[in-house]
Amino acid sequence: MSEELKEAVVKTYEPSEEVKKNANVQEYDETYKRSITDPVAYWGELANNLNWYQKWDKVLDDSNPPFFKWFTGGKINIVHNAIDRHMGTPIEKKFAFLWEGEPGDRRTLTYGQLNTEVSKMANLIKSMGIVKGDIVTIYMPQIPELVFAMLACAKIGAAHSVVYAGFSSTALRNRIDDAKSKLLITADGGWRRGNIIDLKKIVNVTLDQTPTIENCITVKRTKHGTEMKKGRDHWYHEAIANISDECPTEVTDAEDMLFILYTSGTTGKPKGVKHTHGGYALYTSTVQKMVFDIKDDDIWWCLADPGWITGHSFIVYAPLINGTTTILYEGAPVYPDPDRIWEMVSRYKVTVFYTSPTAVRGFMRFGDDWVNKHDLGSLRLLGSVGEPINPSAWEWYYKVVGKEKSPIMDTWWQTETGGFMISPYPITTLKPGSATRPLFGIDADVVNDNGESTKVGEEGLLVIKQPWPGMARTILGDDERYKSVYWSRFEPQGWYLAGDSARKDKDGYIWIIARIDDVIKVSGYRLGTAEIESALVSHASVVESAVVALPHELKGHAIHSYVILSEEVEKSDELASEIKTHVRTEMGPIAMPETVTFVDSLPKTRSGKIMRRVLKAQAMGEDPGDLSTIED
Ligand code: WT7
Repeated sequence: MSEELKEAVVKTYEPSEEVKKNANVQEYDETYKRSITDPVAYWGELANNLNWYQKWDKVLDDSNPPFFKWFTGGKINIVHNAIDRHMGTPIEKKFAFLWEGEPGDRRTLTYGQLNTEVSKMANLIKSMGIVKGDIVTIYMPQIPELVFAMLACAKIGAAHSVVYAGFSSTALRNRIDDAKSKLLITADGGWRRGNIIDLKKIVNVTLDQTPTIENCITVKRTKHGTEMKKGRDHWYHEAIANISDECPTEVTDAEDMLFILYTSGTTGKPKGVKHTHGGYALYTSTVQKMVFDIKDDDIWWCLADPGWITGHSFIVYAPLINGTTTILYEGAPVYPDPDRIWEMVSRYKVTVFYTSPTAVRGFMRFGDDWVNKHDLGSLRLLGSVGEPINPSAWEWYYKVVGKEKSPIMDTWWQTETGGFMISPYPITTLKPGSATRPLFGIDADVVNDNGESTKVGEEGLLVIKQPWPGMARTILGDDERYKSVYWSRFEPQGWYLAGDSARKDKDGYIWIIARIDDVIKVSGYRLGTAEIESALVSHASVVESAVVALPHELKGHAIHSYVILSEEVEKSDELASEIKTHVRTEMGPIAMPETVTFVDSLPKTRSGKIMRRVLKAQAMGEDPGDLSTIED
């Protein structure tokens, strides 16, 4: 299809005059230009919105690229900004979190109460010998204590590594080992679709094999009974019974490590992406305020898991820095009924709702009636993140949920970017399926292999041409990998390679196409083909495997696997389902393949690299393209 034709079918949507009039951002072109021409001035000015113990010497230290530093010499702690600075102001009495468990139990926390709880948890982990620089692993359901644990680490200058509670024992162990954690904070279990997820059971298996862990704190949530190991295991409620609720916040450097978050890449070993106190605090709070137009009376709901970057940045840190009230929900979105979320939106009078295309498609499947039963009049803005949103889901979200009055902020970003990078502001003309244009301070472009900006409509690589405060600083313990994955492709230019392909239209709108590496997005979750393949071959009957992502109506993409069995093994349906279950046990439910196909060989290059695109083309009945490099 020619570009003119493609353009012709794209419908545009204009935010209402009322939305535009009230927006925190009133103008794009000029501010954008200024922010790119002089990023130091732009970010330096905004950084004054944060509370610093000591002002920075330099906004950006770019003397050793790609290891950029922001606000060097500055002393800050993100918790000082997220909690301490609100004490003694009207925000102290405001709700920080409105929490709801899946069974319907509720809990509210004001900023003042949050301060107390975080201080207690901080004193507890300090008493277990955790000091600045240590990395504490957290493996918890979506309960308030998860947030306390993250903030408690940050408060004392230690770092956290939250491992998503949907991951299994092996994934948890690898992450604990990589971070060399001495402490694990967990819960007995959590609720999901009416069932108890027995987290502590998984933890008990894991901790038998992790040499670094000395202590494990367990929050009692499901009360279903668990084995506690003497000397190692501590019940949270017992351990904090006599602990002081006052704890000074550690004065950290702007560049001190705030957290590690593991994400998938091209090789099997997960990457521990490192973020820091200063730049991350500034970046996340700024983009939330500007894109979601945060006002004092907002009720903000980011329907994500705190175990992923979306939750770190937009359930925990940015909303707290901005003094916002946030909804935190433990369970499955369509449990016990498909209107669980809409009932809550209406009851809590949620004003801004942010979720993933997968969730939207899931709601859409149950039909409009479940939404229409509830008064969603409080909503004024909607958001989407995690993968490109297909226009039909966009339209449904806009019409049925937003009643054509709440514009959708489709935010493109990554674990590595800290916060939104390409996204509309509430004043932006919207095109369903496009994250629109780069935010202020973000010099994003689509380029060809030679680094030239692509022509309108031409596919190319998404790059960011200038550093920004929320950027990852490195991969834990692996500076070389950080350099080679993100910065080597356009080393002379000094550009960040995002790993996505994209095209730009005549209005400069960016359309994300797909990942260019071996990363699969399933329901918005990021998984590496190599990780899944290594889980497959760890099954005794499997000698070789390859996985590909094929389009899926609900999940966006789903995993399909091809395996070569050992000579002596019989192919059977039972074996196929046993292999699926094996991956589920090894990695967690999200990584379980949709199909297992037994094959005798796999298409490979002469250098032995599996050509996944050939498998994919074959599965989809498409032309596999250039096969000149294929061996067999
Ligand atoms: C990858 C990053 C950022 C929080 C959740 C995902 C894809 C993300 C969008 C969007 C198109 C998107 C990209 C990106 N992605 N948001 N709005 N439109 N694609 O973080 O797990 O680090 O994944 O998600 O492919 O590279 P992540």
